[in-house]
Amino acid sequence: MLPEIMDFQGILDDINAQIRPLLGTGGRVASYIPALARVSPHQFGIALRTCDGQEAAAGDSATPFSIQSMSKVFTLTLAIRSLGETLWHRIGREPSGSPFNSLVQLETERGIPRNPFINAGAIAVADRLLTQGDAKAEILGLLSSLCGDSIRIDPEVAQSEADTGFRNAALANFMKGFGTLDNDPSHVLDVYFNQCAIAMNCLQVARAAGYLCRDGAHPYDGSPLISETQARRVNALMLTCGTYDAAGEFAFRIGLPCKSGVGGGIMAVVPDRLSLCVWSPALDPTGNSHLGRLALELFVARTGLSVF
Ligand code: DON
Repeated sequence: MLPEIMDFQGILDDINAQIRPLLGTGGRVASYIPALARVSPHQFGIALRTCDGQEAAAGDSATPFSIQSMSKVFTLTLAIRSLGETLWHRIGREPSGSPFNSLVQLETERGIPRNPFINAGAIAVADRLLTQGDAKAEILGLLSSLCGDSIRIDPEVAQSEADTGFRNAALANFMKGFGTLDNDPSHVLDVYFNQCAIAMNCLQVARAAGYLCRDGAHPYDGSPLISETQARRVNALMLTCGTYDAAGEFAFRIGLPCKSGVGGGIMAVVPDRLSLCVWSPALDPTGNSHLGRLALELFVARTGLSVF
């Protein structure tokens, strides 16, 4: 079926109807950040926006949730836009095959994170943004512009991240020791904890990701946010590194550039077609939404929309 004549609203309604009976049957809500541990797992939302501005949404698609690591796509976008190729002097582009908060590779690879989507890489990106100016304001400004709503940080989640982020503090200090960070680790971590604590709903995330299916053009006004080549590279990194040590399994089952967060959201891109976001808070052992992944599998099976 051609995407142009797909009934996206009907498809998302059907996926919602298939997923809802499964709520609470698998996975566990992230427990290592107290503010996330309190979120009910009995929630599921899905939303998409096509390149030509058609939208569809179902389930709890208007409920705000903590976007967590999905924020790393947008900080990477800001850093690529302002630093270009020099960003890669301090950050790699290979999948890590390790949990997102692992410290192991940093020692053998002399403080250079494998990619911008593991925690170490995102902290290194936050450092570069901080060197450029008011990183938190830049991130919120970008997201608000991309989705057309005023986006905010949930202060309770940000505080909870800071209170429990001992591994992130270790990563930041370790990288500072190797010279990967310019700034004081505590200032860099403040940016990182706050970007993870941004609250958005599925429809807002689907809209915000719109530039990634439009060759880097802003989803509303079409102005170039990043170049076509840069957008292709962000999508490539999402496909290979966006779901951590499950990236191979996501490529195998879904075949779309995806980025997950431990709040239970997963954003996905169908290049030249649409951007979408699914959310359900219970996570599988790799830190990816258990039912979110299933919903994406159902979407690809139903529509045939995959890069492969
Ligand atoms: O650094 C952390 O532990 C979290 N604030 C963000 C991690 C995250 O979402 C990784 N994702 N799947």
